[in-house]
Amino acid sequence: MVAALNAESPDLPTRRTAASSRIGIAGGGQLGRMNAIAAAQLGFDTIILERKAECPAAAVALRSLVGDWDSEEGLRELAALVDVVTLENEFVDTRHLAALEADGHLVFPSARTIGLVQDKFIQKQTLLEAGLPVPAMRAVENVNDVAAAGEALGFPLLLKARRNGYDGKGNATVRSVEDIGAAWERLGGNAGNALYVEEFCAFTAELAIIITRGRDRESVAYPVVETVQRNHVCHLVRAPAAVDAETEARAAEIGRRAVEAVDAVGSFGVEMFLKQDGEIVVNELAPRVHNSGHYTIEACECSQFENHVRAVLGLPLGSTRLVAPAAVMVNLLGTAEGPGRALGLERALAVSGAHVHLYGKTQTGEGRKMGHVTALGDSLEEAEHAATRCAGEIRFGDLS
Ligand SMILES: Nc1ncnc2c1ncn2[C@@H]1O[C@H](COP(=O)(O)OP(=O)(O)OP(=O)(O)O)[C@@H](O)[C@H]1O
Ligand SMILES: [Mg+2]
Repeated sequence: MVAALNAESPDLPTRRTAASSRIGIAGGGQLGRMNAIAAAQLGFDTIILERKAECPAAAVALRSLVGDWDSEEGLRELAALVDVVTLENEFVDTRHLAALEADGHLVFPSARTIGLVQDKFIQKQTLLEAGLPVPAMRAVENVNDVAAAGEALGFPLLLKARRNGYDGKGNATVRSVEDIGAAWERLGGNAGNALYVEEFCAFTAELAIIITRGRDRESVAYPVVETVQRNHVCHLVRAPAAVDAETEARAAEIGRRAVEAVDAVGSFGVEMFLKQDGEIVVNELAPRVHNSGHYTIEACECSQFENHVRAVLGLPLGSTRLVAPAAVMVNLLGTAEGPGRALGLERALAVSGAHVHLYGKTQTGEGRKMGHVTALGDSLEEAEHAATRCAGEIRFGDLS
């Protein structure tokens, strides 16, 4: 049963607004929240579908439905209230999305696109077929297959869940044959989770790009950025990436062709490895706004979120130009379980030029994304100094 929160609560009646369009977002985390804020700026309403009433996006949306975004019932209720449905994550059963499309609802990205992206092995095969470089990989059905892949590709190897991985949770590094059993167990291989292996890429840098593609399939590209992960989680983003013009152009071209290969509509993130020999391979594609593009809110003329809204509504796309020579984004991650209240905000806000974003999560946890900070500067060093100093002031949880 899907409960319409605002319809049930006497203090939160469904507001009447003059919005010309309504966007439904399946998923209510920080990405949905930042999409909803961008939509509101243009005078559009958003309705969120999330499993819990308390979620980051609900606080800034017109209305929230409490229900499962991975159920046909929940998605149908959402679709009936809006002009277009979009997604905050790629973990939705594509049959539900296809059912909405069959009923004439607009869904962007489409069921077909999500189907090509949500299984990382299928995604990489799709990219390979489109002539794009990806790490060497193999599907595996059991531990013997992993051992055989180790023989063929060499150790270390990455064992990865084909679906539902995020923030590195679906990844395990296999350094030798002895690691295979534990890695297989940890990723749920015995429980029937589909896994695959991929060569370990000794990269010199991780690059990423956001591309927004409109309903007319015309696209705009943001600058190529460098991302730095800690424990497989994005920690910092430097825009633009400090790479030569030829590398930047190659990365941008790979990003553009990758989103074309899956017939993207909306803002997509493309993660890449820059290898020691200069080769660029695609790590993965995210069919949604992406952490590597949060800096665009302050640093670009039109953010990845606003362009996503424009794209799914069929509106002209905005300029992706940087408004400063450099920008750095630092994620604010939780360190341990506890209440989600931010501490140290006053000191953080005293750092000139740094922009603080808090997602309003009621609970924090180890590695949980609680907010981010972006700083602009005349150089990457200057921006990184301000962003890091500001982010260093903020903690989450109890005072004790
Ligand atoms: N084949 C590989 N070789 C070397 N490092 C890798 C490889 N695959 C992943 N990594 C490292 O682990 C990080 C997370 O991997 P990946 O992007 O596959 O996971 P994810 O769970 O989808 O992450 P997220 O959702 O945070 O993007 C990468 O950014 C990279 O630092
Ligand atoms: Mg990733």
